[in-house]
Amino acid sequence: RRVDGPAQDLLGRRVLMSAGGTREALDPVRYLGNRSSGKQGVALARAAAQRGAHVTLVAASVEVPLPTAAEGVDVVRVESALELETAVHERAPEHDAVVMAAAVADFRPASYAGSKIKKSHDGPQDDSAPSITLVRNPDVLAGLVASRAASPDPTSPVVVGFAAETGDDEGSVLEHGRAKLARKGCDALVVNEVGVGVTFGQDTSTVHLLRPGHPERTVGPADKSVLAHAVLDLLLELLPAT
Ligand code: CTP
Ligand code: CA
Repeated sequence: RRVDGPAQDLLGRRVLMSAGGTREALDPVRYLGNRSSGKQGVALARAAAQRGAHVTLVAASVEVPLPTAAEGVDVVRVESALELETAVHERAPEHDAVVMAAAVADFRPASYAGSKIKKSHDGPQDDSAPSITLVRNPDVLAGLVASRAASPDPTSPVVVGFAAETGDDEGSVLEHGRAKLARKGCDALVVNEVGVGVTFGQDTSTVHLLRPGHPERTVGPADKSVLAHAVLDLLLELLPAT
């Protein structure tokens, strides 16, 4: 009998994924956001469910339709980096892997204005503008790696990070990616080249898959669902044998 669909090589695995861009509220009507569309994270969640995994998707702001429970994906909605951190840290221990595809804001406004920030209206010469002070957000991925280091446990989840890189004077996309992998201490890093109109919001991208002590692999340019399956192939290598 012919069996349709992808191999069930993630059958019974519990995978926690994050996707989309966080929004850091300034006041009831405004936020600081980023260009993440969530397409890659959503493609990963769908692909993992198709391969038999139980998937929990922590979804920040996502521009594409979210997968459903009927597709094998439980969705938890969050807005800010702090909400995402709570959602991920609460659920990580009951998962075999955490894949952090979300674009988590590094900074948030130091204070939230409970009512709408208004212009001052002190006559036609008044062009005054407020300044926004930012504070650092927690690094969710680094927190997962640190808690694992603090209490080593063979059942701790495998942790895969994503990196959004543009090359600059300091180094190429790959050089920044290698440095980030070393700094973050995660089990693998998926490095994306980003820029306006490159990766963000697009249906295709190119990724470099980095794993400490293993050869680097480049996949793409390819559809984000193809990249998702390549990331899951890597995840499969990282998961302990059942
Ligand atoms: N990440 C996170 N929490 C943050 C920021 C990032 O968990 N506050 C995660 C992302 O989900 C991603 C990885 O860390 O999996 C790398 O994100 P990236 O923004 O590329 O790296 P940063 O360490 O924030 O470095 P940079 O200064 O280059 O933004
Ligand atoms: Ca960042």
